[in-house]
Amino acid sequence: MQKKINLTENQIPTHWYNVIPDLPGPMQPVVHPGTGKPVTPDDLLPLFPMGLIEQEVSQERWIKIPDEVREIYRIWRPSPLFRALRLEQALGTPARIYYKYEGVSPAGSHKPNTAVPQAYYNKIFGTKRIATETGAGQWGTSIALAAQMFGLQCTVYMVKVSFTQKPYRKSMMQLWGAEVIASPSNRTNAGRGILAQDPESNGSLGIAISEAVEDAASREDTRYALGSVLNHVCMHQTVVGLEAKEQLAIAGDYPDVVIGCHGGGSNFAGISFPFVADKAAGKRVRLLAMEPTSCPTLTKGVYAFDYGDTAKMAPIVKMYTLGHDFMPPGIHAGGLRYHGASPLVSQLVNAGVVEARAVGQLACFEAAVQFARTEGIIPAPESSHAIRGAIDEALQAKADKEPKVILFNLSGHGHVDMAAYDAYFAGGLEDYEYPAEKVKESLSKLPKVDL
Ligand SMILES: Cc1ncc(COP(=O)(O)O)c(C=O)c1O
Repeated sequence: MQKKINLTENQIPTHWYNVIPDLPGPMQPVVHPGTGKPVTPDDLLPLFPMGLIEQEVSQERWIKIPDEVREIYRIWRPSPLFRALRLEQALGTPARIYYKYEGVSPAGSHKPNTAVPQAYYNKIFGTKRIATETGAGQWGTSIALAAQMFGLQCTVYMVKVSFTQKPYRKSMMQLWGAEVIASPSNRTNAGRGILAQDPESNGSLGIAISEAVEDAASREDTRYALGSVLNHVCMHQTVVGLEAKEQLAIAGDYPDVVIGCHGGGSNFAGISFPFVADKAAGKRVRLLAMEPTSCPTLTKGVYAFDYGDTAKMAPIVKMYTLGHDFMPPGIHAGGLRYHGASPLVSQLVNAGVVEARAVGQLACFEAAVQFARTEGIIPAPESSHAIRGAIDEALQAKADKEPKVILFNLSGHGHVDMAAYDAYFAGGLEDYEYPAEKVKESLSKLPKVDL
């Protein structure tokens, strides 16, 4: 029985999988925040290079991965698929648990899978500089790395709570040549507006997105890059699920349930979308997104048109949302603190193709520690939500005496998140109640969209 199932470099996928043709219904239009009308590719050009805009709206099921991107993917892809034998034993479960480990990338997470193609399409478009935001710092490090590889400048607006909690992520971005700014900042109108209301603001992904979008829109040499949510980002991440399918086939298995943590949706999309077509064709496979109870977008949000950012500069999309100015508590899984979700994942949740579940951070850290003590790898706090989901499914399988097959995405390692583990062991972490009142207030400000 193999512990680790590896593919060779020439088995890196040659194409990304685009789920749009396999959706249960048509995509909802993306709406311009200024005009209230559907956006055109020209509207998006100040923010994104044409190559990515084309991918955002493509109806093609398979899109070729450029050779230049595959060449860089070779640094860490194909990533290993592990069988969690020691965790299975500790749980006494008849389930077979597999995990795809994306922490082997130089930045330590799945995010370079999209950072590299985004930098590539910007390079061939003629972009000189990329402006972006980062929550936990995983995306910022990934785009800093990718920008460096293609000779682009990079400015990262980093959510202030993570800027303070995760100084080494900032160091990594600087090492790869990026400029890092704590958000909210004085550099943009959006940041100045927030600081005027609350000089002590912890920041949020929504605010940092506003700052990066404003920066990019105000400079001809600069484009914006987003590390999650968008269709093309989810598509780039499908290399994860495509490889995992091949690896499971080598092990002679097929999953009963596929699990990923959910912030904006990209790592969940990466592991699960390649199974959506199978499900549509009648295969029995569950797809489960795990999110924090403190920011329960898919389980407690509404499926509605909303802004992607706090300052209402980003396009309006139909998604599960807690309201664009909802400010989640400062949990340690900083990358899961987003008020919205990928429109693709949202549509699949709404259609009942994808299930979602919310869990508290203490239960996630407990799962992460059990995982590290059995499997050895220290997970990122975000990824611990997927581990919680996998352990709960395995315990259910034990109760049901059912040898089910569980696949989850271990989206990143936690080597730069040790302060969070220290806080957990010192008893300094708390579970946040669902902030019902704050969500209600924020949801009262949804835009009126009349198409
Ligand atoms: C390790 C890790 N996993 C998951 C996420 C959540 O993002 P997404 O839902 O786009 O995968 C993040 C975001 O920063 C992350 O760093």
